[in-house]
Formats: sequence, structure tokens, C-alpha cells
Amino acid sequence: MSSVTSESAPAVTPDGIMQLGLGFWSAKTLLSAVELGLFGELAGGPATPEALQERLGLHARSARDFLDALVALGMLERREGLYGNTPATGLYLDPAKPTYIGGLLEMANARLYGFWGGLTDALRTGSPRNEARHGGDFFGALYADPARLEGFLKAMTGISAPIAAAIADRFSWADYRTLIDVGTAQGGLPVTIARAHPHLTGGGFDLPPVEPLFTRHVAAHGLADRLRFFAGDFLHDPLPTADVLVMGHILHDWDLAGKRQLLAKAHAALLPNGALIVYDMMIDDERRQNAAGLLMSLNMLIETPGGFDYTGAHCLGWLQEAGFRDTRVEHLSGAYSMAVGVR
Ligand SMILES: C[S@@+](CC[C@H](N)C(=O)[O-])C[C@H]1O[C@@H](n2cnc3c(N)ncnc32)[C@H](O)[C@@H]1O
Repeated sequence: MSSVTSESAPAVTPDGIMQLGLGFWSAKTLLSAVELGLFGELAGGPATPEALQERLGLHARSARDFLDALVALGMLERREGLYGNTPATGLYLDPAKPTYIGGLLEMANARLYGFWGGLTDALRTGSPRNEARHGGDFFGALYADPARLEGFLKAMTGISAPIAAAIADRFSWADYRTLIDVGTAQGGLPVTIARAHPHLTGGGFDLPPVEPLFTRHVAAHGLADRLRFFAGDFLHDPLPTADVLVMGHILHDWDLAGKRQLLAKAHAALLPNGALIVYDMMIDDERRQNAAGLLMSLNMLIETPGGFDYTGAHCLGWLQEAGFRDTRVEHLSGAYSMAVGVR
């Protein structure tokens, strides 16, 4: 009798499919923990479940399962009945620490979690599912509400912190004197680079409503004398001149014509021998491995009318078309890579 399995074939199970399909259970449990302020509550030390139930305002029915699920997911530790942060959640999810990256998760919870419920419609229509789903401009709609503006900009600082650190470390900053981050949000990247390289000056370029939040962030790091805000609209205005321009999470917001226009403006604004650094979750050239980059591109489908993420090879092609030389792509951290071109 023939058999459909052989000894050497790996066992086929539904486990991976079910884990992925129900992955939103885990994601939302973490997002709710961030929303409830759980990790900040535990910054002072471990606590009993009763104390956490009281402090977070949890229903008696939910508390133990919620806390133990977070233990099982590796987001909390439980020792002798007390719940505490893990080394990672204590460092990255305590809002009082400068290493806090929860801004992104707060934004994911408040906005993206709901908007991704419309993914099937976005796949069919090709149009955004967010605040701009009835037309209009995403940033205009987002920035009309000061709380959303601040939440979004803080989220960008969180997501870009490890990338900024990698760029501060890897790029040859000693060869340059001025830096401007185009679409800078709170200015997290220029702050990180200016702190690591005291000879640099410059700042960040962004839409006018961003200025107060940039100014506050830069002042909080004692860099107001070296970094300033350049107000403008990169779709209509020229970019300010510098030795180095950075565009992080910018190109992926726009369609191909928009990407090309931004690269041409960067080329025109750079000083001779100046460099442009572009970073995004660049998709691997074969488009089969960097799932995060591909999912980020679907996130751009949800968030923007024409944006998409792209491979390093595509980015190098566009840089060369815009007139850049000595172009290269370098992996940075996690799913992120940077492309560099010299004017
Ligand atoms: C996705 S965020 C990226 C923020 C930051 N570069 C980072 O990677 O963390 C895009 C930024 O571009 C800015 N932006 C969007 N449209 C713009 C425009 N037309 N002119 C100038 N800045 C713009 C937004 O305000 C926002 O700060």
C-alpha cells in the first residue's frame, strides 16, 4: 500500500497557519497593555495581580488572563506571584525613559489597528482606509487634530531611533559639516546624529505645524544652538541646502512620480560632493524575504493614495536617474537599509 508521507519529509501541520491567522490576538494584547500604561506602572518594581487590577482599572474577569498572556508572550515576567517588566519591556516600553518606543505602538493601537480592518477593501480599491479615505491629504487630515499630530510624530521618533543610531554610527560624518533631515517629524534623527558628532550643524525640514514639536524636542536635548527648523512643503518648495540631506520614511509615502520629484529636489539642493541618505524598510531585490518591508508597503496602501515601498535595486536606479553618483545600499538594522548617493 502506498503512503502519502515518507520518513524524510517534514511533518505538515496547520500550526503556522493558525498562529499567523490569529496573530492579531497577540498584537492587540500588547497594544492594549501599552494603552493601559502597564509597563510604566511596573517601572517602579513588580506588583501583585490585585494591585495591577486596581491601578489599571481592569475587570476581575480579565486581569489574570491578560497578565499571564503577556507572560506567555514574553512581555512580562512572573516570579512568586508578582508581575514585572522583562529587561526589554522595562527599557523600551516605560514612557518615562528616553529609550521608549511605545509611541509607534500607541499610534498602531489608536489608528492602524482599526484601519487594517479595511485591508480587503484597500486591496480591491487601491485607495486608503485611514482619515483620508474620503479623499484629501493624509498629513492634512492627521495634522488637523493636535493630539494625532503629536502621537504620529512621537511614533516616528520611536520607530526611527535604532535607525538614527545606526546611521550616526555608520556614515562618514567627519567628511561633512551640515545636515538637514527632510520630513524630520520631531527631529529624532538630527538630534541623535548631532549628539554623536559635535561638529555638525543643521536641522530638520517639515510642514509648518510640526515646528513647535521639533523645537521642543531639540531644546530638550540641549541642541537649540546647532539644529533649527526649516518650514516648508517639499511638494511645492525647494529643499534647503546642506552637505548631507536625509529622507527617512519619505519616499515610500509617494507614488513613483512623487519619488522622482523628491530625489530631483534633493539633488538640486545638495552642495557639490554632498550626499543624500534615503532609508526605508527596503524590500529584498527578489521580493521574497523582507516580509516587514512588504507589509510596510501594504501599510502605505492603507495610509496613502499612491505610496509603496521598494527594493534597494529600484532605489539605486532612481538615484542614478536623478544624477547621483557613487550610489550604494547598506543594511542598517532589522528590516531597514539605507541608499546613499553623492552629488
Ligand atoms: C512618515 S514621516 C517620517 C518622519 C521621519 N523622517 C522618520 O523617519 O522618523 C513623514 C514626514 O514627512 C513630513 N511631510 C509630509 N508631507 C510633507 C510635505 N509636503 N512637505 C514637508 N514635509 C512633509 C511629515 O510631516 C512627516 O514628518
